Amino acid sequence: MNQPLPDITDRESIITLVDRFYEKVRQDDLLSPVFSHVNWPTHLPVMYNFWSSMLLGDQSYQGNPFQKHIHLPIQTIHFNRWLLHFKNTVDEHFSGAMAAEAKMRAESIASLFRHRLKLA
Ligand code: HEM
Repeated sequence: MNQPLPDITDRESIITLVDRFYEKVRQDDLLSPVFSHVNWPTHLPVMYNFWSSMLLGDQSYQGNPFQKHIHLPIQTIHFNRWLLHFKNTVDEHFSGAMAAEAKMRAESIASLFRHRLKLA
């Protein structure tokens, strides 16, 4: 039988989640153009801090994520794809309460962003 997947427990697991997720994003023909201006060595550590703050509560992220999305060329289709990759990444590497929490948080922030961007 396969080994059960670990849960998200520490910063190392957050780094795995974020790195694997953005590998998918960067290979996706719909999403990658939206990220063409992004400096990855800067962006990835910001995302480690964001997800550590969300899931581990370490308050390492101090920013306004919504602000960063206002002028991006994104529609509902982009959110759906973003969420699909995020949930698949979680499920490929982790399982447990925190893994479920990560997917729920992503869903709820995505729907908040969509609402604030006045997308359907
Ligand atoms: C359609 C879906 C999405 C796309 C295409 C997208 C794209 C991007 C891009 C291109 C940036 C870099 C902006 C810049 O620095 O110029 C960014 C930043 C960020 N995104 Fe998203 N995003 C999406 C959804 C989300 C969701 C659902 C979340 C949260 C769960 C999120 C969290 C963040 C955070 C925390 C940052 C960093 C903000 C900062 O620099 O402080 N994004 N996103």
